[in-house]
Amino acid sequence: MTSCQIKEQDATDTLNVANTLDVESFRKQFPIFANHPDLIYFDSASTTQKPQIVVDELLDYYTNRCANAGRASYSWSTQLTRDIEETRKKVAQFLNCEVKNLVFTGGATDSLNMAALSYGLNNLEDGDEIMLCQQDHKSAVLPWYNVQEMLQARGKNIHIKHFTIHEVGDYDLKSIKAQLSPRTKVLAMAHVHHVFGLDMEVAKIREIVGDDVVISLDASQSVGHTTVDAQTLPVDMISFSGHKMFAAPGVGGLYIAPRIAAKIKPVRLGGQSPVAITENGLEYSAKSMHQLIECGTLNIPAILSLGKAVDFIQSVGIDAIEKQLSDLTVYLWQKLMDLPGLAFAPGIGICGCDSGFGIISFRFEQLAALDLTFLLDAEKIFVRAGDHCTEKSGEEDYLRVSMHAYNTKAEIDQLVEVLQAATN
Ligand SMILES: Cc1ncc(COP(=O)(O)O)c(C=O)c1O
Repeated sequence: MTSCQIKEQDATDTLNVANTLDVESFRKQFPIFANHPDLIYFDSASTTQKPQIVVDELLDYYTNRCANAGRASYSWSTQLTRDIEETRKKVAQFLNCEVKNLVFTGGATDSLNMAALSYGLNNLEDGDEIMLCQQDHKSAVLPWYNVQEMLQARGKNIHIKHFTIHEVGDYDLKSIKAQLSPRTKVLAMAHVHHVFGLDMEVAKIREIVGDDVVISLDASQSVGHTTVDAQTLPVDMISFSGHKMFAAPGVGGLYIAPRIAAKIKPVRLGGQSPVAITENGLEYSAKSMHQLIECGTLNIPAILSLGKAVDFIQSVGIDAIEKQLSDLTVYLWQKLMDLPGLAFAPGIGICGCDSGFGIISFRFEQLAALDLTFLLDAEKIFVRAGDHCTEKSGEEDYLRVSMHAYNTKAEIDQLVEVLQAATN
């Protein structure tokens, strides 16, 4: 999916798009749905449910081979070290990047902080500018304010400029052009917006800002939903979470493009860091971004589970997942359109795109979003309200439905029925 194009034709014309994913057998891979047959889980943008293959991997680590990795010489430890590196290869292949450019982190928030600190502290100079959007997730926004404060303490004034999202739901490119200056050094952006659900058009933004600006991409809502290709995305850093793509919480990834690799300085050091203490300070001898940035005991079971999550996604195919998600999004949009008093947030609801990534947000004139979440909870339908982790106020009234490929059209029908009854 690319930009949001206003869809003029009748909304019912895409209702019968065939699913290429076998949803029932896909869904059967998730034990939670067998244990809770009445569960309707519409909060996958927050975290996804876990397939059996991921659950088994975690259990296997804790019950059969628990040890540390990268330290001891006994077989369990060395095997785990190999398994972690095999997982890194698998994830790197999945993102189409070189292994040496992929860092395991604790999750997207960790990756985004690491990106801001390890690039920003080392490269930004007095008077430089960072561009970001306050309607993005705070995990993508606040780390740059942190960099600003830390550099201020070193006598460097960094300016943060804001670009906006227009009512259609993607970035207002005019506001990016207006804020751009020769001092713009970094731009932080989302790949797919976590409330509005649109592809935020990286290529167009790169075209506007030119090659010299470092782009940090928050791909939390795109990895595992659509193809994320580090070679073709014109960005310098890509952050994502494992738990939003079927793996366990506590692992994420940070891709660092070769062109900025030499400019990265780690902000955490520890037992595994290839650093020598010399009379002139610290000397780094890392051969890869992960050697440079990872330190301490990694979240071994979560990393192994990420490998299994990638296997799982690849066994059904990312294209099939994307198509199922897109079909569900369009179906949800069509059903919601009929509800009286419903106002869509920017994104799919407004622009009527004929595809999507599983996220639609909306509100009702007559009922607060939070009240609706309680009503829906009573029917075991889990959706999200609140500030959606954004700094800018206004989003808190929105109810967000976020799906993954295990959701069904029948579940959407049930949601809409409850909403209809609640708002009548
Ligand atoms: C767009 C976006 N960025 C970052 C995050 C933070 O992810 P995590 O909580 O896994 O660190 C989220 C989580 O909801 C998100 O949706």
